[in-house]
Amino acid sequence: MPTILAIESSCDETSASICVDAKVLNNIIATQEIHHTYGGVVPELASRAHIENIVPTVNNALEDFADKVCDNPFENNSAKINYALSKLDAIAFTQSPGLVGSLLVGCQFAKSLALALNKPLIAVHHMQAHVLANLIAEQQPQFPFLCLTVSGGHTQIVIAHTATRLEIIGQTIDDAAGEAFDKTAKLLGLPYPGGPLIDKYAQDGNPTAFKFAEPQIADLDFSFSGLKTSVLYFLQKQTAAFITENMNDLCASIQHTICNILIKKMHKGIVQTGIKQICLAGGVSANKGLRKRFEELGVKMQCQTFIPSFEYCTDNAAMIAITAHYKYLEQDFATLDTNPSARSDW
Ligand code: KG4
Ligand code: ZN
Repeated sequence: MPTILAIESSCDETSASICVDAKVLNNIIATQEIHHTYGGVVPELASRAHIENIVPTVNNALEDFADKVCDNPFENNSAKINYALSKLDAIAFTQSPGLVGSLLVGCQFAKSLALALNKPLIAVHHMQAHVLANLIAEQQPQFPFLCLTVSGGHTQIVIAHTATRLEIIGQTIDDAAGEAFDKTAKLLGLPYPGGPLIDKYAQDGNPTAFKFAEPQIADLDFSFSGLKTSVLYFLQKQTAAFITENMNDLCASIQHTICNILIKKMHKGIVQTGIKQICLAGGVSANKGLRKRFEELGVKMQCQTFIPSFEYCTDNAAMIAITAHYKYLEQDFATLDTNPSARSDW
């Protein structure tokens, strides 16, 4: 059963994780604070930060792994790293989608390590990995399961027929759910990334204090640009003092609208497919309001619900490792001429 080192570097988190026989042993994440000053991720700065972070992050994962699996004391950290490297069966990395410069750092690092160790290389799709983050916990969904993936770049409803056969049955036609959070937060004057701040203020606010537009989009597809415009037009008519005084209610109402859009489509997805195992995934699944609404939906529709723990919701290498595990079982290896891609094609 394989021991896999996985690297995630698609956006602004440098992360490394080791999983043994589908059990995640660690998940080291170096977050790039530098982007907060700019109100969004600056691709060039992200690539540079990945270059600085990748060696210490991978070393942390290797040292931690050695400490966990070997009882004998090590002379120093190099000995731990060498021991850990000798135990690896494959090296995995995020191939797409993401910022191409960021992806390139993880890809080149993984390729170099695979070549040096003469071990197989596994290229992982970031969105598949978000879905499979639901296979990290001990309690796992049965196949086929339905997954609502909500991140900063994507919003999708996916049927996971197996760990490696996923089918997108609905997706956003414009902004992603995470963008809806971040862009409306920006309109409220909140710093980037605004999603977690809306979540925080919403906890003390009234979700029905203000009403914002909900789109009428066919099938299982989503749209969030109308909500953003509706919030913009509303705020343009208000004073700065009004916005500050009503911050909790505004955040609660925006969050409520985003959750309505997501939950209504997931409800439709359950009815259409008849699938009763439902999962949440992606950075926005860290949102407390959405987690609660998702659980309520499960109860109402008599579904079993699964939500990854917080550390596996936002970008992390553990989800890359677990996905790589299933690809390893199918011997689905990449060659050394594999390149990263910014595109999200499956
Ligand atoms: O999956 P992720 O870490 O990165 C991408 O692959 O995009 O998702 C990042 C997104 C950001 O838009 C961030 O604002 C949002 O997830 N997010 C949240 C929360 N935590 C992260 N949105 C709402 N509430 C949260 N608690
Ligand atoms: Zn992500």
